[in-house]
Amino acid sequence: MAEDLTIIQGSKEEVYQSLIPQINALTEGEPDLIANLANICGALKEQFGWLWVGFYLVKPVPASSDTELVLGPFQGPVACTRIKKGRGVCGAAWQKAETLIVDDVEKFPGHIACSSLSKSEIVVPVIRNNEVLGVLDVDSELLSQFDDTDKKYLEQIVGEINFG
Ligand code: SME
Repeated sequence: MAEDLTIIQGSKEEVYQSLIPQINALTEGEPDLIANLANICGALKEQFGWLWVGFYLVKPVPASSDTELVLGPFQGPVACTRIKKGRGVCGAAWQKAETLIVDDVEKFPGHIACSSLSKSEIVVPVIRNNEVLGVLDVDSELLSQFDDTDKKYLEQIVGEINFG
């Protein structure tokens, strides 16, 4: 497909329903995971204008048998590179293997402030065969920007990614 995104105005439902087929068209037939994650970040950032959209991927800790989240494709300000299991919102979503919505990051114990501009956040784990392979992290400059509609559609987007 043409690498153009149609941006629409509308309710969150309408916006996701317009965006998801476009994301599928961008990624289908492309086997490269990093390319697909990069385009998903670009599409979400362009449509919603959020502060930060990106993936962290579960990878080995160098010279160790342990794993941690390592920064992957993203759009937005530079971010922390590595996050341990259970640390911050991303590490907590990994540990719990469930989506976390944080209305006010300052009230989340252990929140990792990559940007002082971030006020609210949603983290959606990528789960395959009961194993968390990474997380999608989205940050907003505004409080309480994420709700069950974001959870539903971001989980759908993450669920459709071909992790190989
Ligand atoms: N705030 C996240 C860290 C990642 S940055 O927001 C990009 C957290 O608490 O896990």
